Amino acid sequence: MNKTAIVTGIFGQDGAYLAKLLLEKGYKVYGFIARRSTPVDWRLKELGIENEVEYIEGDLTDVSSLIRAVNIAKPDEFYNLGAQSFVGTSWKQPILTAQSTGLGVLNCLEAIRLSNSDIKFYQASTSEMFGLIQEPIQSEKTPFHPRSPYGVAKLFGHWMTINYRESFNIFGCCGILFNHESPLRGIEFVTRKVTDAVARIKLGCQKDLHLGNIDAKRDWGFAGDYVEAMWKMLQQDKPDDYVVATGRTTTVRDMCKIAFDYVGLNYEDYVVIDPKFYRPAEVDLLLGNPKKAKEVLNWEAKTSLEDLIKMMVEADLRRVNKELKVKD
Ligand code: NAP
Ligand code: GDD
Repeated sequence: MNKTAIVTGIFGQDGAYLAKLLLEKGYKVYGFIARRSTPVDWRLKELGIENEVEYIEGDLTDVSSLIRAVNIAKPDEFYNLGAQSFVGTSWKQPILTAQSTGLGVLNCLEAIRLSNSDIKFYQASTSEMFGLIQEPIQSEKTPFHPRSPYGVAKLFGHWMTINYRESFNIFGCCGILFNHESPLRGIEFVTRKVTDAVARIKLGCQKDLHLGNIDAKRDWGFAGDYVEAMWKMLQQDKPDDYVVATGRTTTVRDMCKIAFDYVGLNYEDYVVIDPKFYRPAEVDLLLGNPKKAKEVLNWEAKTSLEDLIKMMVEADLRRVNKELKVKD
């Protein structure tokens, strides 16, 4: 019989790719969606799946809405991807971030415990929990030291998931995912901010690009590859936690170079360092060790950073060209 899944955060980057993957595997997919005053389903539309998902309205901060969703969908699997996920915003709205990104996880776990504790649960944990890194290459065994209210909230959700596994035998898995990007990435994140600017500069409708700390290093992969790892975690015999990463780290500066080079421009002619984009506390370096995911899940990243940035620049060139045609 086909399986059923609930996905919170389905209108976000990962939610869209995961929904597509689950639909391709024959799942019935329910999207748990927070009410917003304007429609935000553009990612599902880009993937052509907006009419294949059933929607249930609710909010991660409202446990009753989660219980209602679980009772309606009766899922086999529950993927919690919803969160206030932008690190920069987490200093401006720390309490909202704690409530949705942190307590929201506990609300999901309680909804499962109270309704049907056989539901398998995936929690979107993050490399941001490593923060002030305690080891040069981070694995499942590396101690955490979060550097932002977002990282602290995620750490709460991470340990709550482990605690519910140990206390109530809930099949809860945490994917400690390193940064992953795509043409569906939100514009506020640095890769997409860069590829959008590259397209606009190339097409003559933007002059320069203001960035903060371009010496920060990230382990960047493709979101389309990473959602497969999420699904694989819930197909194992035993629940566990996994680092999902490429094993390569690159500075923001070099990522800019790759993006500008792709359209034949020199990033140094356009990038302006703007202290407005510095963070109160920075995560200088992230580099993941995906060995366990490879050994247990038979998962590995397939897309290089160069191919990823190319895919993103091309998508942004198409979007900006379309915008310009509409204006003509
Ligand atoms: P995203 O694009 O920001 O998507 C997050 C989604 O959660 C959005 O659709 C958002 O809706 C929704 N949401 C926010 N608050 C909510 C609430 N209170 N109730 C219900 N839904 C709510 O993030 P993503 O990049 O897809 O990431 C997916 C998950 O993985 C997030 O939990 C993120 O923290 C985590 N993660 C991401 C990465 C990465 O590099 N992408 C790495 C590690 C972990 P609105 O936009 O309408 O608020
Ligand atoms: N967003 C942004 N904008 N970041 C900039 C800028 C800028 O103008 N200039 C430099 N950066 C630097 C940030 O300071 C950070 O060191 C790095 O670029 C990456 O920033 P983001 O793309 O915003 O991602 P993040 O690493 O803070 O967080 C993302 O990855 C986490 C996993 O490690 C998000 O997706 C989180 O939700 C996720 O958990």
